[in-house]
Amino acid sequence: MSSTRTISPFDFSSTAAEVISGVDLHGRRALVTGAASGIGVETARALASAGAETVIAARDLAAADRVAASIREDTGNEAVSAVHLDLLDRASVDRLVEGYAGPLHLLINNAGVMAVPELRLSPEGHELQFATNHLGHFRLALGLLPALRAAGGARVVSVSSRAHLNSPVVFDDIDFARRAYDPALAYAQSKTANVLFAVAAASRWSDDGIEVNALHPGAIADSNLARHYDPGVLQELRTSGRYTFKSIEQGAASSVYVATSPLLEGVVGRYFENCQEADPGDPTAAGTDAAGVAAHALDPAAAERLWTISEQLNA
Ligand SMILES: NC(=O)c1ccc[n+]([C@@H]2O[C@H](COP(=O)([O-])OP(=O)(O)OC[C@H]3O[C@@H](n4cnc5c(N)ncnc54)[C@H](OP(=O)(O)O)[C@@H]3O)[C@@H](O)[C@H]2O)c1
Repeated sequence: MSSTRTISPFDFSSTAAEVISGVDLHGRRALVTGAASGIGVETARALASAGAETVIAARDLAAADRVAASIREDTGNEAVSAVHLDLLDRASVDRLVEGYAGPLHLLINNAGVMAVPELRLSPEGHELQFATNHLGHFRLALGLLPALRAAGGARVVSVSSRAHLNSPVVFDDIDFARRAYDPALAYAQSKTANVLFAVAAASRWSDDGIEVNALHPGAIADSNLARHYDPGVLQELRTSGRYTFKSIEQGAASSVYVATSPLLEGVVGRYFENCQEADPGDPTAAGTDAAGVAAHALDPAAAERLWTISEQLNA
């Protein structure tokens, strides 16, 4: 396991196509969650373009089928298919796991929901963003663990967000039962959980040849993620100059880099942004394009605590 900080040839403006150039994924199998829209589509397209057998996992199966067909047509890779996955529905996650045969080399936990305006709970009673972004992916990854092990060298990518800087996992009240619900803090908490998952999974699964890392894709205004935002707020964000927005193709670059770069062999439990390993984060530096990673997201004790709780909640 490498402890050296990695440096890559890619940066803020790199696209998924640039990052995948020269990478050969023939004989590899990939699954991308939430890949019927946004960053997931371009992540899947890049992996498929390099020859990977690619599964588009989405809760809108018709949309996933359309994306799979368009990627097959664009890339000439016929091994692109769609499968139903609703991360809020345990039976759906379990069906995908039970129906998945053979090894899995690349698992991209990309699906996500942001800033749900009112407190909503999963069927098991957990705050919706935490349940979708973290607990659903936790169940999926653990279910697919035999397939990841069978790959004899696999990577798991946990798509987080710079928003993680705004909240640790609040272990005493993950589900906002005793504090006022705040849509942004609930998203932030779930995105810290995505990084902590990578930290804990990396230490557990490295010996099985499974490398797990997390990342922030950048600020991308053209995906569906801001669907819960007031259109006026979104327009203000677009024009405020506080963020430099990326295209969706640029937004997929860090996922593709972390999933496939040979430079990252043996690198686990880290957090990337702009295709680079992130510096320590400063929550007060909102609006900068490289915000860094919070200590609360890389804390091994918090990662272990979250893992134990997630196992209990997943039982
Ligand atoms: N866009 C940004 O600026 C930005 C910044 C930082 C991090 N991210 C992260 O990047 C990832 C991709 O986001 P995006 O920008 O591409 O947004 P997006 O277009 O909304 O993609 C997110 C996908 O997740 C899916 N999803 C939501 N709930 C789900 C569930 N219960 N089960 C299965 N799939 C579900 C959505 O499917 P439905 O259409 O069916 O809801 C959607 O296809 C997310 O994890 C997000 O947090 C994005």
